Amino acid sequence: MANALDKQSIARLQRFRDLGDRWRDLNRTDLQALVHELRDELALHDRRYYVDDKPLVPDAEYDFEFRLLEAIEAAHPEFVDAASPTVRVGGAVREAFKKIEHLSSMLSIEDAFSDDEVQAFEDRAKRALGLEAPDWRYVAEVKLDGLACNLVYEAGVLVSAATRGDGKVGEDVTANAKTIRSIPLKLQGDGQPARLEVRGEVVMHKDSFAAMNAALVEADEEPYINPRNAAAGALRQLDPKITRQRDLRFYAYGPGLVEGRRFAKHTDALQAFEAWGIATNPERKQAATLAEALAFFREIGDRRAALPYQIDGIVIKIDEYDIWDRLGATARNPRYAVARKYPPEEATTKLRAIRFQVGRTGKVTPVAELEPIFVGGVTVSNATLHNYDEMHKFGQLHVGDVLVVRRAGDVIPEVVRRLTEGEGAVVDFPTHCPECRTVLELEGAYHMCPNRSGCPAQLRGALIHWASRHAMDIRILGEKTVDALIESGLARDVADLYSLDAKKERLLTLPLFADRKADLLLEGIAASKVRPLDRFLFGLGIRHVGREVARLIAARVHDPRELFDRDDTWYDAIDGIGPEIAASAAAYFAEPLNRQRIERLLAAGVQPQSPAKDSDVFVNSPFVGKKIVFTGSLETLSRDQAQDLARRLGASAVNSVSKKTDLVVAGPGAGSKLAKAEQFGVEVVDEATFLARLREVGIDI
Ligand code: IVH
Repeated sequence: MANALDKQSIARLQRFRDLGDRWRDLNRTDLQALVHELRDELALHDRRYYVDDKPLVPDAEYDFEFRLLEAIEAAHPEFVDAASPTVRVGGAVREAFKKIEHLSSMLSIEDAFSDDEVQAFEDRAKRALGLEAPDWRYVAEVKLDGLACNLVYEAGVLVSAATRGDGKVGEDVTANAKTIRSIPLKLQGDGQPARLEVRGEVVMHKDSFAAMNAALVEADEEPYINPRNAAAGALRQLDPKITRQRDLRFYAYGPGLVEGRRFAKHTDALQAFEAWGIATNPERKQAATLAEALAFFREIGDRRAALPYQIDGIVIKIDEYDIWDRLGATARNPRYAVARKYPPEEATTKLRAIRFQVGRTGKVTPVAELEPIFVGGVTVSNATLHNYDEMHKFGQLHVGDVLVVRRAGDVIPEVVRRLTEGEGAVVDFPTHCPECRTVLELEGAYHMCPNRSGCPAQLRGALIHWASRHAMDIRILGEKTVDALIESGLARDVADLYSLDAKKERLLTLPLFADRKADLLLEGIAASKVRPLDRFLFGLGIRHVGREVARLIAARVHDPRELFDRDDTWYDAIDGIGPEIAASAAAYFAEPLNRQRIERLLAAGVQPQSPAKDSDVFVNSPFVGKKIVFTGSLETLSRDQAQDLARRLGASAVNSVSKKTDLVVAGPGAGSKLAKAEQFGVEVVDEATFLARLREVGIDI
């Protein structure tokens, strides 16, 4: 998935949200800890957003954390730090592209989520210039939701194109940008400056996005989650041919450095761009007052869903460039512009049915099946209703109800309200599990199927989770195979997977299983016997125990059976584990059925590898405290496995090469990281050498 939401980030975010204004009551130490946590979180998001194009949380959530940090720093100047994300411009630069230094910095725009905040922007500008009333005009433009691109023209010829990067240095995407037809390679007409930076947004139109995703799905590839990510992925392709196949657009929104000519007003610059053949966005308006600009905000808001591209607000800019110069900028934002952001996009659609989905923990979730509707940049045909209470928030739902659904950024679609009641049947919440007919039990806000050992839906979820990439990583065990194993009765528990080799004859009689497939499955299962303990614990699918919590627990035991005797106070004492998780983990290991499963897994030869922290391996390991980078394709190990091994041996597996890197393990196809390692004189070995070193400490792969 290009953009799965990260559960831990969402959980942290929820904590920050729950805190509300109460941070003001925290003591100094706790407040400082909170500030550090927010900075780390924002730095992580910056990296995922700007460098990896894989944001962990929606932009609105990032904004929330950013504003919280800003508010705390404003109230406590003693915490302000030059390295805080609030005082720097952006994220780090990815290594795969050459770097280009922008001729002038690319800043961001301050966001306003209400009209009052827009007014405050104007008031500040007035004060800064000592004016009673503004003596300027505005230009309001749509704020396109794509990615910024900086074009440089010399004597009218396009010489480079770069992404924004950290605002000072971006990535060289010239070859890719040249494939975008709305970017002229040579400017038309005359009067062109000697040197000109043209700033604009690269976007993918909604229809192109839908067509591209349909083709990806057809080819059995993962579709992109939204047009912004699709555009970012296409512009940052290492192969420009792929960029060319994607239908990208560029819309200029203003100049950067201009040499040999001076524009008096923003509108003049945009007009000149158009005359030179540079695409600008037609959705803009000159506004004499802020009120007029805000009227444009509302007008565009009404037409937003019908626009061919995604927007997330409008940008209100002062038109006169001499005022820009007089106002200047903060470290992040110029004082001449403000972005009035829209709330999450909404759309109406009809309820077709409600499906009651049983998850691997037995939780029954009502999911609204909707007539497909394009909202927030994607086609939505399902929306979770969470639980009984949420499902009945708007009264009894009927088939045919007209519902308003919302989707902000990458957030899971949700039903906001019901507009009109449908003619169809009332949908009741089931009293029995739709999969195994067991009477449901209420646990807090959720209906649960208590048939932990016999419910096929729970078993299905448990097997899929066990085999998933971050758990036991049994690639060959996909959903169809799982279904076949359950239907045939060959798998009634995850532990049954490890006795399948004795039942190969029966396996071969299943429709899906040719000889080769059965062998591959058995090999995959056998290979999963030696996964690290944290993956084993994560794979068990204990409620609330995600990867990070599994790591925390695994670092404290050698054998999963040790957990049979731990009560919730033991878990609760672990930094990073709260009471809810503690209770859930303790309850899991107290349950005889779960103990039996673990005993059976171990008896079948599953040997979860405990983190070697205080074992002999660790003590003898030459890797303790070393920073290791894996690059290129590895043949024997997957990247994840290699990193796991390195961590087990006390190393930290990092992603980028710096002077501090101790070792680079490079496989075929290694590129810039290898070059960097050579430049810094970091030791480079191939995979075989790495494996040989592992053998020296007793790990034979
Ligand atoms: S003006 C000082 N105008 O929004 C920043 N930006 O948050 C000058 N954007 O990085 C940018 N539409 O990628 C401007 N009409 C517009 C825009 C726009 C989209 C993006 C741009 C920028 C970000 C700023």
